Amino acid sequence: TRKHKVTVVGSGNWGSTIAKIVAENAKEHSHIFEEQVQMWVYEEDITLTKDSPYYDANLEGKSQKLTDIINTHHENVKYLPNIKLPSNLIANPSVEDAVRDSSILIFNLPHQFIGRISKQLQGHILPYARGISCIKGVNVTASEISLFSEWIGEGLGIYCGALSGANIANEIAAEKWSETTIAYDPPNVDSRVPSPISGSPMGSHVNLTVTDTDAPHKDVLGRVSKIKLKALPEEYPPLDHLTFKTLFHRPYFHVRVVDDVAGVSLGGALKNIVALAAGFVEGRGWGDNAKAAVMRVGLLEMVKFGQEFFGQTVRPGTFTEESAGVADLITSCSGGRNFRCAKMAIERGVSVEEVEKTELNGQKLQGTSTAKEVSDFLTCKGKVNDYPLFKAVIDILEGRNTVDDIPNLLSRNVDN
Ligand code: NAD
Ligand code: 13P
Repeated sequence: TRKHKVTVVGSGNWGSTIAKIVAENAKEHSHIFEEQVQMWVYEEDITLTKDSPYYDANLEGKSQKLTDIINTHHENVKYLPNIKLPSNLIANPSVEDAVRDSSILIFNLPHQFIGRISKQLQGHILPYARGISCIKGVNVTASEISLFSEWIGEGLGIYCGALSGANIANEIAAEKWSETTIAYDPPNVDSRVPSPISGSPMGSHVNLTVTDTDAPHKDVLGRVSKIKLKALPEEYPPLDHLTFKTLFHRPYFHVRVVDDVAGVSLGGALKNIVALAAGFVEGRGWGDNAKAAVMRVGLLEMVKFGQEFFGQTVRPGTFTEESAGVADLITSCSGGRNFRCAKMAIERGVSVEEVEKTELNGQKLQGTSTAKEVSDFLTCKGKVNDYPLFKAVIDILEGRNTVDDIPNLLSRNVDN
């Protein structure tokens, strides 16, 4: 039998944290996964200062490659400082090389960069690989909207699920308990024959055998998917809910696996718009009641958006019952970067982009671009006024409204 090779595409704050998790599990479950996990790093030159534990006086003033620092010291000093990464996690500056022979691809980078990387990967991945997207955002082109999981899948010709939840990376990297949701619902290109894999701590597995490699299947909008899926060769352990749970579940990171890829992906994307609104009202000094009002209206708009545009498959319960829904909304409106930057922007009277540049040391906000993309899409559909909170956020970001306008702008949803 062959083992699954795992590659994490991305190495930011969350990318490095997820890479830590899967490398720990790959080592612990080495009967299923190759022990060495690859992590693609967008290469940067880093000059370590005297306060760094890795400072070397011989290199004073000289820069080093971020990948070299990670592979030598097992720490991503720029995006996840003070967290030890497992030594079986290998930082690789070449994305084509990092994904070579990998049957599991985990996409985890800011959504603005996935387009270029996805193009770069074409022709370099195993045709039967499967993906999980940890990206929080939606892909909008003119009047079309799609999920990144789906868009990555179509671009690469593979099936891609999604992982999203109440997951502030720094807390998870410090191994503080949290939960997450994985959505994985591939078409039935593989038939299953019972064949328990011994030694799996998560219970018994079933093997997959090839049946129909080009079976047509439905996408999240119920359309016939453009992807011609290739079945996983039978010498691999199956790529099913149990295997993904085994790859991601840690004592400090509890996983629930569901089928609703659209609900999980939309929850992660849309809550970032609401988190900006929460930051605006907190920055204005209005306190917890105003923040709770914004969260309530925001959750309603998230559910409405899902039903209106992904109604074929989205399950409203995903927004209200899963970590990827309401729990992510709560944590993001409490300590997320979108929330914190929006709050600081109002307090300082500067733009959110300016705070992002000065405060985040290269980390990227997803809410500002998602607010614009969702607004463009809703405008195109003639529905922008049906989503007053989403509209208020983009209008505040672009200077057409101020935070003081929020009570009026939301009055239809707040007052009787
Ligand atoms: P991040 O915000 O730390 O972004 C920085 C990353 O972007 C770095 O790896 C950097 O090298 C890379 N980068 C910069 N310029 C680039 C370019 N031109 N091309 C390619 N890469 C470039 O990233 P993150 O926190 O890992 O976020 C990844 C995704 O995970 C996002 O969609 C985010 O919403 C989601 N997410 C983040 C958190 C969190 O707490 N950080 C939690 C859950 C989900
Ligand atoms: P921010 O990107 O706003 O930090 O949100 C992190 C997150 O997605 C928590 O689940």
